[in-house]
Amino acid sequence: MRATYSVERIVQAHKADNLVVTSVGAGYVGAMTAITMAVKNPKVQFIVCDINQELVDKWNRLECPFFEPQLEEYLRIAVNKTKNIEFTTKVSHAIAQAHLIIISVNTPPCSSKEESAD
Ligand SMILES: NC(=O)c1ccc[n+]([C@@H]2O[C@H](COP(=O)([O-])OP(=O)(O)OC[C@H]3O[C@@H](n4cnc5c(N)ncnc54)[C@H](O)[C@@H]3O)[C@@H](O)[C@H]2O)c1
Repeated sequence: MRATYSVERIVQAHKADNLVVTSVGAGYVGAMTAITMAVKNPKVQFIVCDINQELVDKWNRLECPFFEPQLEEYLRIAVNKTKNIEFTTKVSHAIAQAHLIIISVNTPPCSSKEESAD
């Protein structure tokens, strides 16, 4: 029931051109995904949230914390041209705004090899 409601919200928001996608995690996967999707989907609003203030500050200064070809260029386009991305530590707020949430936080480590995801 909840899933149906969520899909309806997504479809309605997309039709109304106000779809909000939140990435929880501003690391390699979360930030990369959101930045590239933001450039390719200028009508969609992206929020990238993370508990790491230092990391969020770097993104907001347009500094890429790691190297990936064309990432810096894409970051500048999303922030300055399409203007459809923001980086924040306000995780609860970012989730509350979202029609679609991408979870891209760390995989929890396990004590035993049998339980490990790696
Ligand atoms: N990097 C890869 O190539 C790759 C490939 C396949 C799968 N994965 C998986 O994707 C996930 C993300 O990987 P990554 O490389 O982006 O990791 P990362 O360490 O670069 O980023 C994870 C981010 O999540 C943040 N975070 C942790 N808990 C949080 C919370 N409660 N709220 C908000 N932010 C939180 C961390 O501060 C960190 O910045 C992991 O589960 C990883 O196993 C990564």
